[in-house]
Amino acid sequence: MRTNPLAAINSVALGIGRFASLTEMLDHALGQVLEVLQTEAGGVYLLDEERGELSLVVHRGLSESAFRDFDHLGLGEGLSGRVVMTNEPIVIRNLKDDPRLTRMAARTEGFQAFASVPLRSNFKTYGTLNVHTRVDREFSEPDVQLLTSMASQIGLAVANTRLYLGLRASERRFRGLVENAEDLIYLTDRDGRIVYANHALALLLGRDPDALDDQPLSVLSLTHPDDREAMAERLPRMLRGEVMRAVEVRFLDADASTGRWFSQTNVPLRDQSGALTGMQCIAHDITSRRDMQEQVLQAQRLADLGRMAASIAHEIRNPLGAIVNSIDVLRRAGATQDPELLNILAEEAERLNTIVGEFLLFARPPARHPIPCDVGELVQSAAALFRRGGGLSAATELGVQCDGRLPTLVADPNQLRQVLWNLLANASESMEHGRIELSAEALDDGRTVQIVVADQGHGLTEGAAVFEPFFTTKAQGTGLGLSIVARIVADHGGTITADNRPGGGSIFTVRLPVLDAPADAPGRTGAR
Ligand SMILES: Nc1ncnc2c1ncn2[C@@H]1O[C@H](COP(=O)(O)OP(=O)(O)OP(=O)(O)O)[C@@H](O)[C@H]1O
Ligand SMILES: [Mg+2]
Repeated sequence: MRTNPLAAINSVALGIGRFASLTEMLDHALGQVLEVLQTEAGGVYLLDEERGELSLVVHRGLSESAFRDFDHLGLGEGLSGRVVMTNEPIVIRNLKDDPRLTRMAARTEGFQAFASVPLRSNFKTYGTLNVHTRVDREFSEPDVQLLTSMASQIGLAVANTRLYLGLRASERRFRGLVENAEDLIYLTDRDGRIVYANHALALLLGRDPDALDDQPLSVLSLTHPDDREAMAERLPRMLRGEVMRAVEVRFLDADASTGRWFSQTNVPLRDQSGALTGMQCIAHDITSRRDMQEQVLQAQRLADLGRMAASIAHEIRNPLGAIVNSIDVLRRAGATQDPELLNILAEEAERLNTIVGEFLLFARPPARHPIPCDVGELVQSAAALFRRGGGLSAATELGVQCDGRLPTLVADPNQLRQVLWNLLANASESMEHGRIELSAEALDDGRTVQIVVADQGHGLTEGAAVFEPFFTTKAQGTGLGLSIVARIVADHGGTITADNRPGGGSIFTVRLPVLDAPADAPGRTGAR
């Protein structure tokens, strides 16, 4: 019994979505065709327009050698080549006698009747659908009509499948582009919940990109606490469809403390009916630009401060000079019965002068004179100077340890001594008794010298901005010592960090790069 032709045509048409590949779909369709026409052999040729050739993508009832013979055909070559050129079916009662046959296999395989129809859809030819049989029969007019109907269904399916596969490939390409982009790209639903995040965002949050679905995030929870209020104000507007371009916002990063700066642009997402479904956001990391802006601002503030310091110093130092001179005159004249009072006056005037000097030094640092320095000698001499200069109280000790293989540093030795003096002074001021360790060593990279000052004092207050100018916890302090230190270290291309020691006390670590000496530098120095 013949299969119902309409059902067969339908089953071909329905096939598309069910099959993973075009070949699988064609193979299924060919099976249906052969069943409907009750014939044992057939095949589908697809046209490769670029190469101008046909290839037999699926076939039934052909021997291996016949397949190799039929495998590829040029346009116009053989029977299928002609069908594609003319878009007209070819029906042959007996292949053996047909002069159009170019390939021998048809004869050696014993095929007799043959029919080939073009696979067409939307005025475009995709290939041919062929049937042949070894049985002595003729493909009738109704057979060919049925074949043509099925061929047009298959042609449509080929067109759709290609479209679908093309879309899928393009979707994969774009997905790759989005997933691997360095910018953060994410989609939200209408409530601002993140429903898709690319790898960059997952990385920022320190999460596995595949596990993001398990713990859904909201835009607000992604935002740094300091920017959350502003985001909470903007978010409802964004979710109502308002586009906001290049909004600067901090998002939390994996360590969550500082966050990173981003410039974010959002666009609304809509469904086919135009209703809002959420938004799409792209955020570009601008942390380094913001840092640079901050540094420029800081430099400007320092320059202003420098000008102000110079004028204040001038205003203070002139009357101060007059005061000191007057004290001298009063002393010599024996003008008071209480000379101790004059001593206090002199000491306080001297202290004022020191403060003004430090202030000036901070605001207008002297030019740097780098020369090759022996770090070991420099550290030893700074320690000796500190001891001699009375920086240590009776109950405090100072231990010095220097690596034997310290490289030569190109630096301003006076400035480095100032760094060490300030660090030692702070260490000593932080404790009533105990030990300060001063050490210098070469790091394994061979390009860095590390100098450490560690004390057993009261340690640093959590989060205190100790390197900021004027930050002080001391009644008599200016709060300029560490900011001068930090600037000298930065001028030498180095870094400084401050931490608390696990057992109490604090530890300051200075790292200086070993730079090449300038060509005109004088000889090496260490001792004063
Ligand atoms: N070794 C240390 N241990 C504990 N706290 C420290 C230490 N060094 C610095 N600090 C803290 O950092 C602050 C700033 O230090 P900085 O040297 O800049 O100024 P200062 O010592 O207060 O004043 P000045 O150096 O002008 O005398 C100090 O007031 C102190 O609170
Ligand atoms: Mg200090």
